[in-house]
Amino acid sequence: MATVLYITAHPFQSDTYSLSVGAQFIQTYREVNPNDEVIHLDLYRMDLPQFDADLLRRRGQPLSGPSFDELSDETKAKAIRMREILDQFMAADKIVIANPVWNYLFPPVLITYLNAVIVPGQTFTRADNGRRGLGGVIGTQQSKKVLHIQASGTVLSHGEFQEVEYSHSYLKAALKFIGIEDIQAIYVEGTSEMPDQAERIKEDAIQQAIEMAKQF
Ligand SMILES: Cc1cc2nc3c(=O)[nH]c(=O)nc-3n(C[C@H](O)[C@H](O)[C@H](O)COP(=O)(O)O)c2cc1C
Repeated sequence: MATVLYITAHPFQSDTYSLSVGAQFIQTYREVNPNDEVIHLDLYRMDLPQFDADLLRRRGQPLSGPSFDELSDETKAKAIRMREILDQFMAADKIVIANPVWNYLFPPVLITYLNAVIVPGQTFTRADNGRRGLGGVIGTQQSKKVLHIQASGTVLSHGEFQEVEYSHSYLKAALKFIGIEDIQAIYVEGTSEMPDQAERIKEDAIQQAIEMAKQF
């Protein structure tokens, strides 16, 4: 039985391009894999602490002992919650992320989530046999696979705007940093640029989601 995290980074809960394709993917995935556990993380609604001054000072320190005991209840709760989010991420086998593109990037909650799960000594470590990986570190999350579903008004995956595509390309770089190599994408793109083709673009992405969900 696999555990799948379905991560949505959208202020809405349904009926947008990215969320419609994501919902279809998850529906088909559940039909094909009825025994797998799918956990939905709605980043705009879940308890997702900002990486603030309290957490930054506590980074890498244990959740027990004298230095922990003297923290305020609020800081303790935030530190414990960050650890829960990290543990849940590390325990997952597969990850599906759905988001819109805003100003060439994904919504800011997704970077807040990435700050919670890209953690030294946990999802990446210093390479012990010389300089390997980015900055001499090595990712620990090699066995995971990821699908990224991204909606954008213009075509970003190829063509003239590809060089300003910072959403999927950044996410891919961040996930590779922690060792994830199996990263696939579904782009629902060009819907504002070609409004007369928007329905066809959405339908094509939904069909792609159905096919990919059967193999994921
Ligand atoms: C604040 C904002 C910024 C946007 N920036 C971009 C952008 O940089 N590039 C782009 O192609 N589309 C951009 N769009 C259009 C959205 O990416 C497009 O509407 C997409 O379908 C949103 O996904 P959704 O349907 O899942 O909400 C932007 C939309 C908003 C609201």
